[in-house]
Amino acid sequence: MRKPIIAGNWKMNKTRDEAINFALGVSGRLPNYAECIVCAPFIILRDLVKRVPTNLAVGAQNMDYHDSGAFTGEVSPLMLKDTEVTHVIIGHSERRAYYNETDESVNLKVKKALEYDLVPIVCVGEVLAEREAGKTNEVLARQINEGFKDVNLDNPENLVVAYEPVWAIGTGKNASSEIAEEACKFIRTELEKIFGNKANDIRILYGGSVKPENIKEYMANPDVDGALVGGASLKVDSFVALCNYKD
Ligand code: 13P
Repeated sequence: MRKPIIAGNWKMNKTRDEAINFALGVSGRLPNYAECIVCAPFIILRDLVKRVPTNLAVGAQNMDYHDSGAFTGEVSPLMLKDTEVTHVIIGHSERRAYYNETDESVNLKVKKALEYDLVPIVCVGEVLAEREAGKTNEVLARQINEGFKDVNLDNPENLVVAYEPVWAIGTGKNASSEIAEEACKFIRTELEKIFGNKANDIRILYGGSVKPENIKEYMANPDVDGALVGGASLKVDSFVALCNYKD
């Protein structure tokens, strides 16, 4: 049985005060049937970790793949460990599009995250032109195969993959539940080729305009194990509703 994950990706939003108010606001309102996570900007991680309720995990949204060194402006996995976050998003489509993230850098970061016992939430997904050209599976297969090349996975519960079709992110144009299931199932098949039976225990999330009003449809699918949510994770009531999707 894969435990569902509801993860918020705050992107470049929230000051320290706003984040702490959020932590206080969700306290006592999150279920235990799902793993609830918020991925916050670097600079507020430490304060957030200290204030979240025990059933809310905190993650970062990126990291460098070096341990330390002359990499101005970057944050290392060692520094993330020092804040006591447990998760890190890797390869988000916004980083692929605006900050030159590649399948190769994703691969290096995944290995580093696992080395440091950080759970990577690895994002994959096609852009609209690729979907329209019938290339979705080809793109997903490439991102998975290159992203997880030579990755040693001891415990499959420590790896999370998020299917985020780029055309559905921040557009309000969410993928249908069928599209999400089809892609997540395909991703699991690709993961099986790399990790064998362990693929059955890897959580695969859907992300892209998920809201309290549509999360149930996604969660009803056999291969969708959770959601990675941007905009709708920013407000306390909305995040609480997403996490309590069964109610
Ligand atoms: P939205 O939920 O705002 O579409 O963002 C999705 C996303 O990019 C999560 O990582």
